[in-house]
Amino acid sequence: MSRIHDALKRAEQERATSAGTYVEPVFQQPPAFPQPEEQRENIPSPPSPQRSSALAMPTMASGLNYESLLARCPQTEWSPDPRTMLFFQGDDSRVGAEEFRTLRNRLYQIREKMPLKRLLVTSALPKEGKSFVAANLAQVMVRQHGRRALVIDADLRNPGMHRHFGAVQSPGLAEYLLAECDEFAALQRGPMENLFFMPAGRAVPSAPELLANGRLKLFLQRVEPLFDWIIMDTSPVIPVSDATLVAGCCDGILMVVRSNATPSDLARRAREEFPDKLLLGVVLNGASREHARSKYYYGEAVNSQP
Ligand SMILES: Nc1ncnc2c1ncn2[C@@H]1O[C@H](COP(=O)(O)OP(=O)(O)OP(=O)(O)O)[C@@H](O)[C@H]1O
Ligand SMILES: [Mg+2]
Repeated sequence: MSRIHDALKRAEQERATSAGTYVEPVFQQPPAFPQPEEQRENIPSPPSPQRSSALAMPTMASGLNYESLLARCPQTEWSPDPRTMLFFQGDDSRVGAEEFRTLRNRLYQIREKMPLKRLLVTSALPKEGKSFVAANLAQVMVRQHGRRALVIDADLRNPGMHRHFGAVQSPGLAEYLLAECDEFAALQRGPMENLFFMPAGRAVPSAPELLANGRLKLFLQRVEPLFDWIIMDTSPVIPVSDATLVAGCCDGILMVVRSNATPSDLARRAREEFPDKLLLGVVLNGASREHARSKYYYGEAVNSQP
């Protein structure tokens, strides 16, 4: 039985037996990328990303470089939600922060084995914590010196990431896809160094057509050399097909499952929408502190072979 299956099962069991709400995401990696024994015991220091050497270099091919991005994308006022944005206050000891560091380490481990920069964060249903996970993951990435991250709200139907950051919603991805603005106008830079954000823009009725019109792919190609990580927040998978469209532009997918909430059959159905090779793992969001710190998650499930 795979570890993803175990995680879903566990989420369902928790749903049946507990009513607590917590802020701890727990990462469950699928068996696709087994870790050699010695690497599994040596998690803490993330290696340099495979493509990081390109980051300091001007990107002549696209005409974009980091300096022009900084110049053309002035810092804007954000009011991050202090309840759920874990890293803006400069307090690295908040509940949940350590779990995001662990998730970051796991992603760097996976990146040693495959090209990984464009991440899709999705889930089966609304309100499972996709935006929460995507936003905090981007923050923990840039907490490492010199690392740059871009978060894109690709949930064009129900834009929400801007509320977590306390940033403006437009212009953003929708306006860029409609060719109403260029990439600089659609990007924001907030108070955290090296963290960039493309909001969803105004709500549009034609989300699938826009996401498939080729401009998202073009945008990602242009900005990719400027960032270590590009993290895309999407619509839930079960009600609409948008996430599967965006997945075509990604290197890997993180599936969020909300503890005590996501029915495991729906989580499994959502997971089946994506090719196995793209699925990096499941983030169990809202796991109880006891479960998060238990041997099941950190001793056995995360660190053991399937
Ligand atoms: N681990 C958590 N602990 C506490 N609150 C959380 C947690 N995860 C998410 N929330 C809260 O739950 C709500 C839904 O989270 P979020 O917006 O991240 O979900 P979503 O999956 O992106 O939803 P949607 O599908 O509507 O975009 C938000 O109010 C968020 O602050
Ligand atoms: Mg959301």
